[in-house]
Amino acid sequence: MPKIPSSVIPKHIAIIMDGNGRWAKSRGLPRSAGHKKGAESLKKIVAESIRQGVGYLTVYAFSSENWQRPKAEIGFLMDLLKSQIKAQLGELAKNGVRIKAIGDLQMLADDVKAAILDAEEVTKHNDKLHLQVALSYGGRQEILHAARKTAGESADFEAALYTSGVPDPDLLIRTGGEMRISNFLLWQIAYTELYFTEKLWPEFKEEDFLAAIEEFSRRERRFGTAE
Ligand code: IPE
Ligand code: IPE
Ligand code: MG
Repeated sequence: MPKIPSSVIPKHIAIIMDGNGRWAKSRGLPRSAGHKKGAESLKKIVAESIRQGVGYLTVYAFSSENWQRPKAEIGFLMDLLKSQIKAQLGELAKNGVRIKAIGDLQMLADDVKAAILDAEEVTKHNDKLHLQVALSYGGRQEILHAARKTAGESADFEAALYTSGVPDPDLLIRTGGEMRISNFLLWQIAYTELYFTEKLWPEFKEEDFLAAIEEFSRRERRFGTAE
């Protein structure tokens, strides 16, 4: 893949990785096959982010509302998450990736939580790519949680968000054709550039990622000013 000039690379990219189920259905496969293929897409996009010098990548892996899915699908997703962490932790750590999970982690099973805590611990001194994995994550829940935490105190509200210390996303990509936010990073995307693509997540490749970055580089951001 061509290297994009660092001056136009977004510092923080967020991705709603959607369309796994439809990808599988269109091939007569179970939804789980779509999730498995989607994990391969994530691996490619993480590697490309490192190559391009993206500083922060936040991926929506499982929403608060996804707990309403069938038990078997949830179980598959959690097992996949755990096995992906275990299989890729060594390589990610070696490549300077710092892993952090954001969301209501109390909802997760102990073995999944343990794998996440281990990944966070092992990578805590890395800072080439900050990979935030949104898990059991809901933007409204995050805002309420931060509001409760800071109620009546002078503490900084943003510091109480799960994303404390992380700059807001410059670019949000949603695959799968839906033009909605689905409760992702509601506070943080106030001035984020949005990019929607019909491509389903399992078929989203490095060139699609670069196309999104290329479009981003042509956007004019004004942040409410007159310029
Ligand atoms: C995204 O793909 C993965 C998760 C939400 C966990 P979906 O499973 O939502 O796939 P579609 O949108 O039904 O195709
Ligand atoms: C958003 O996708 C959540 C993730 C990608 C993890 P959904 O498939 O859950 O969103 P809706 O239901 O289409 O809004
Ligand atoms: Mg979906």
